[in-house]
Amino acid sequence: MERVLITGGGGFIGSHLARRLFKKGDFVRIADIKFEDYIREKYCNEKSQLDLRILENCLTATKGMDKVYNLAANMGGIGFITEVGAEVMHDNVLINTYMLEAARQNKAKRYLYTSSACVYPTFRQIDPQVVGLREEDAYPADPDNFYGWEKLYTEKLCEAYQRDYKMDIRVLRYHNIYGPEGTFKGGREKAPAALCRKIAEATNPGTIEIWGDGKQTRSFCYVDDAVEGTVRLMESYYDKPINIGSERLVSINELTDIITKISGKKIEKTYNLNAPQGVRGRNADITLSKKVLDWEPKIDLEEGLVTTYKWIEERVKEDRA
Ligand SMILES: NC(=O)c1ccc[n+]([C@@H]2O[C@H](COP(=O)([O-])OP(=O)(O)OC[C@H]3O[C@@H](n4cnc5c(N)ncnc54)[C@H](O)[C@@H]3O)[C@@H](O)[C@H]2O)c1
Repeated sequence: MERVLITGGGGFIGSHLARRLFKKGDFVRIADIKFEDYIREKYCNEKSQLDLRILENCLTATKGMDKVYNLAANMGGIGFITEVGAEVMHDNVLINTYMLEAARQNKAKRYLYTSSACVYPTFRQIDPQVVGLREEDAYPADPDNFYGWEKLYTEKLCEAYQRDYKMDIRVLRYHNIYGPEGTFKGGREKAPAALCRKIAEATNPGTIEIWGDGKQTRSFCYVDDAVEGTVRLMESYYDKPINIGSERLVSINELTDIITKISGKKIEKTYNLNAPQGVRGRNADITLSKKVLDWEPKIDLEEGLVTTYKWIEERVKEDRA
């Protein structure tokens, strides 16, 4: 039985990953500063409530673990990462530096770091009809926000630990992962969850506010697909940064229309042009993940959004009750 640590295991992707590995039969320890427990069934063997900005806590978390998936991060959707810079960089540099060092000291056999599409340079993302970003496009560096700069710094930190300590490390770059059982309210939610919540809360007929003009584009990858890609990368030989995302580019207006159709409501959009909207267009190129991981997303955006919308609609009803 393999002993696996998932940091950020109380959060969105981490809890899905934990459930997947727990069901497979691994011994799964999750470490997080808080546990939302959106997943209602048992999804791990051990839960450790730890602040991973502290080295001693990282040493406790990694003790006796074969594989470490480091997903813990102080992060959120575009609203949060546009507004909060210092805290995001401070906390994440500490978490990522101490987690890597603790895994080294405790001799973890393999370590995986979850970076982000936010590392890619702004100058490649100024048009809604953007070309998919390839891994090598990260340089020359010019991430859009502080969160992206920290992710890029930690990618380099991983590279240094690979070179100097011969640590066995994997690095992936998620592109907009969405799905049920994740943050959908409170200011840290991402666009798909925020739109599902707004539409679930709206009257029928009703109106919702879109951030920006809705013409900004992104690609969205369902969480089960992301988890599959994450596990495949951990099990692979590939030790350089790699994209995990979808190549289907949609505008925020199109995303809203898909969710509206699922809801069965008649929804009108209003636009807040002063709200944060990030880069103008961003898409993933997953040629490399297809080649080295034999991985690509299997779940259609429409299909994934049905599950996501239904789950969020239920939570909105619960909150009202
Ligand atoms: N969701 C996405 O679309 C996406 C895209 C790119 C990268 N990522 C990265 O993937 C990882 C997981 O993202 P997610 O969407 O599940 O986010 P999430 O916010 O749901 O999960 C992150 C978890 O880290 C925990 N955490 C924060 N500070 C901590 C601390 N000091 N000590 C211990 N735990 C702490 C949080 O409590 C949270 O549960 C993150 O590293 C994130 O940057 C996610």
